[in-house]
Amino acid sequence: MAKDRKQTASYGDEGFSVFLRQAFARHMGHTKKDWEKPTIGICNTQSEVNRCHTHFGPIVEAVKRGVLMEGGIPLEFPTISLGESFTSPTTMMFRNLAAMDTEEMISAQPLDGVVLIGGCDKMTPAQLMGAASADIPSIMITGGGMDNGEYEGKTLGACSDCRFFWQEYRSGSVSEEELDNINQALAPSAGHCMVMGSASTMAVVSEALGMMLPGGAATLATDNRKLAEAQEAGKQIVNLVEKDIVPSDIMTEKAFDNAIRMIMAVGGSTNAVIHLTAIAGRLGIKLPLSRFDTLGQDTPFIANLRPAGEYQMKEFSHAGGARAVMKEIETYLHTDVLTVTGQSLKENLADVTVSPNYRHVIRPLADPLHEGDGIAVLTGNIAPNGAVIKPKAASAALLKHEGRAVVFESTADMEQKVNDPDLDVEADDILVLKNTGPRGAPGMPEAGMLPIPKKLLEQGVRDMVRISDCRMSGTAFGTIVLHVSPESAVGGPFALVETGDTIRMDVQARELELLVDETELARRREHFAPPENGAERGYKKLFQEHVLQADQGCDFDFLMPPSLRLADKTKD
Ligand code: FES
Repeated sequence: MAKDRKQTASYGDEGFSVFLRQAFARHMGHTKKDWEKPTIGICNTQSEVNRCHTHFGPIVEAVKRGVLMEGGIPLEFPTISLGESFTSPTTMMFRNLAAMDTEEMISAQPLDGVVLIGGCDKMTPAQLMGAASADIPSIMITGGGMDNGEYEGKTLGACSDCRFFWQEYRSGSVSEEELDNINQALAPSAGHCMVMGSASTMAVVSEALGMMLPGGAATLATDNRKLAEAQEAGKQIVNLVEKDIVPSDIMTEKAFDNAIRMIMAVGGSTNAVIHLTAIAGRLGIKLPLSRFDTLGQDTPFIANLRPAGEYQMKEFSHAGGARAVMKEIETYLHTDVLTVTGQSLKENLADVTVSPNYRHVIRPLADPLHEGDGIAVLTGNIAPNGAVIKPKAASAALLKHEGRAVVFESTADMEQKVNDPDLDVEADDILVLKNTGPRGAPGMPEAGMLPIPKKLLEQGVRDMVRISDCRMSGTAFGTIVLHVSPESAVGGPFALVETGDTIRMDVQARELELLVDETELARRREHFAPPENGAERGYKKLFQEHVLQADQGCDFDFLMPPSLRLADKTKD
């Protein structure tokens, strides 16, 4: 039976508090009897400044219809909305703020359950983190991916093709006019980026965790099934309230294993590693990077989706989406886990089939795109707490590589030098970008796909080993090592790399080593000084003082449950 979560505001007199609240419920047109029904919050992040969330109006209305059909009272409320392209310096700096907003508004308001509507990269993890901490019955909906872009007969995808054509333009192979025409076609409809970038990956993660109704992750924003899903979510949240099924019943250790498996099976974004770690952390579940590596090694990569494959969310949706992938890799999943349907994953998957006409999109288990290694975790003296790479989005020839480091001290330093024809750099060098981690930048921007130096681009070079302590967009590609932890700004050994050093990377062996002797490193360590970028006030100061490192999910230390805070005390 439903718990009564409708605590009243405290005016120091309980009777008066109830009396006052009733007056304002009546102000909204609700009778006393209405107010006894389940009140369902609809967390709407529609915003004109978040382009991926501009179409949420009809989705919210559909949720409301569903809630009313099932006898609940829908109450829509806003929270912070983060759009990738219009938020500076980077949305990652505000993910935790959005998570706090979501948690506190769910907890502070008279809600028995909540439907969360997100979509753009940081919104889905922020909402799941907030819901995990608030721990009242919750269902996640994402707004759906965009339709495919098209230019001169070629399918375009935001933002893999944003990056691809920008690189071609820099190399001189695409004209300014062509680039402008492509720019027009890159984001053609409502919805989030339509390759398997961070937004699509986090939608898949939501479904794999059991927090989204089956089928929701792949449905496009423009597909009427998105409204059907929303209406169904409105009905189902009332049932979850009745049964008192909360996120901590659903997001268990087994569910996180399933989510990791699904990230690997769809070739998902490296950002999902950070977000999933943070969501798990809210529930007191520690997800070490090694768990991603272990499960990644033998999870077949079967969804042929860009940036690591060929197709986009439209084709993925036609092929059956995340639930079809889960059906295909069912033997790798814990199917006894509870989901927001009120049923187990096994029950949800009972009638699911993969369309035979779309086997080129979701490949059979016996014929995967790759046997495993969706995301690999590297460690070594340069990254004692780990770094990640997406081997299948990298150049196979570079996965074992030794080269001379060419170091940029910051993004500003890189911007100044990378197009300089006099930059001392060769194709087999390793580009290193420092001071771009959670505290260093701050906010860990998506600058990890370092631009290939212009002079090398003109020579035809399209990929190099690039290493940084920042992130890259899930839509990006290349031989790119990210999330080096601890980051350089806090004095991690990555701070000690200098131009001219030799770095050895061996992805198969999971190694990342700086070949400089310990005496020299000790000398450099003595001269280490953190960057002078400390904020004096406000949210940025709070962020810099409390953000955890990438391997710990970049949440704020004080938002973790005490059990995990104690366990992590010994770490940076
Ligand atoms: Fe929102 Fe890409 S900009 S998902």
